Amino acid sequence: MTPCFTRTLAATALLSIASGVLSPAQAQDKLKVGFMLPYTGTFAALGVAIENGFRQYVDEQGGKLGGRTIEFVKVDDESDPSKAADNANKLVKRDNVDVMVGTVHSGVAMAMAKVAKDNNTLLIVPNAGADAITGPLCAPNIFRSSFSNWQPGYAMGKVAADKKIKTAVTLTWKYAAGDESVKGFKEGFEAGGGKVVKELNLPFPGVEFQALLTEVAALKPDAVYVFFAGGGAVKFVKDWAAAGLGNSIKLIGAGFLTDGTLEAQGDAAKGLLTTLHYADDLTNPKDKAFRLQYAKTYKLQPDVYAVQGYDAAQMLGAGLAAVKGDVKNRDGLVKAMEAARIDSPRGPFTLSKAHNPVQDFYLREVTGKVNRNVAIAVKGLADPARGCKL
Ligand code: BEZ
Repeated sequence: MTPCFTRTLAATALLSIASGVLSPAQAQDKLKVGFMLPYTGTFAALGVAIENGFRQYVDEQGGKLGGRTIEFVKVDDESDPSKAADNANKLVKRDNVDVMVGTVHSGVAMAMAKVAKDNNTLLIVPNAGADAITGPLCAPNIFRSSFSNWQPGYAMGKVAADKKIKTAVTLTWKYAAGDESVKGFKEGFEAGGGKVVKELNLPFPGVEFQALLTEVAALKPDAVYVFFAGGGAVKFVKDWAAAGLGNSIKLIGAGFLTDGTLEAQGDAAKGLLTTLHYADDLTNPKDKAFRLQYAKTYKLQPDVYAVQGYDAAQMLGAGLAAVKGDVKNRDGLVKAMEAARIDSPRGPFTLSKAHNPVQDFYLREVTGKVNRNVAIAVKGLADPARGCKL
C-alpha cells in the first residue's frame, strides 16, 4: 500500500466517524490478545487446550469480539515462575497487548497478576487456581474463568467425609496449587469428621514417586488425596497402579488428576473418583455443541482446560460487546464482565465479587475413557475470597 493511499484511507475513516458512518470499534485497530501459556514441559498439553478453546469461541464469532478483529501473540511461559515477570512485561510493554490471557501454573500466574496490577492491564486467568489471585491480589482488572485451588479440594474433602472415609494422607507437588488444594481438602474433610494424618509432597514438576508410595503403604490410611496434573498426573496414576496400593487404599483427587490424561493413563485410571467443575458426559446443549465443534476442529476430545479457554473468550466477549469494542472504556468493560452470566459447557456460571466463578462441582468416576458425572458434589460453590478487598 502506498503512503498516499494509506493517508487517504485514514482520512476517509476519520470523516466516516465524524459523520457517524463507522462506530468507534470499526474505526479501531485489531484487538491484541496475549497468550502467556505453557507450550513445553509437564503442562504443555494444558496450554494448547486453553488456546484451542479460546480460539474456538472467537472463530464462532467470526473472528471478532465486540466488533474488533482479534489478533493473537503468544509466549511460552514454560511453567517457570522465575521467568514469569519478564514474560508478562514483554507482552505488556513490547507487544502492547490489550489483554493478557494466562496461565496454567499458580506461581507464574501470581507474577502475571502483579504485572497486570502495576500496568493496569486486563488479565483473564484461564486455569491457575492460586487462591491469592481472587484473594489478596484481587483487582478490578483481574478475572478468572477457571477455579480457585481451594474449590475442587474442598468439594473432594466433603465427598470423602460423606463416604465415611476416616483417615487420609495428602500427596502433592510443593507449590501454591498443591498446598492450597490440600488446604481446601482438609477443610471439607475435617469439618465432616475425617482426619488428615500426614501431608507428603515433592518439588514441582518432579515425578519420583516411589519413596512417597512406600511411605503411604506404611501409613495405611483409608484414602490418599492428591493434586497432580498434565504429564505428572499420567506418571503418578501409572505408578500408583503398578504399586498395587489401590486394593487397600482409595486414591482420590482434584479432577486434574484424570482430565485430559485418560488416553495416556489407560486402565490404570479405571474407577478413580475426583471432583471438578466439568465432566465428560454432561448433557446440556452448550456442552454437546462445544464438544462436537472442538473434536471437528482439533481432532481431539476437549477437557476442562479447553472449556476454561473457551469461557475466558466468552467473558472478554461479554465485556467488549457492552462497550462496542472500546477497551478504553475500562469501567464499562469491567462492569459488563462482572455482570455476565456465562453459558459455559460446564453449565452456566456467574462471577463472585472477587471475579472467580461460582459454580457446581461434580463428583466424577473414570469409566472407560471418560470422567463420568456421578453426582453434583457441591452446588454453586463460591471461593471464600479471603483477603480480597474489592
Ligand atoms: C495450578 O498451578 O494452579 C494448576 C496447574 C494445573 C492444574 C490445575 C492447577
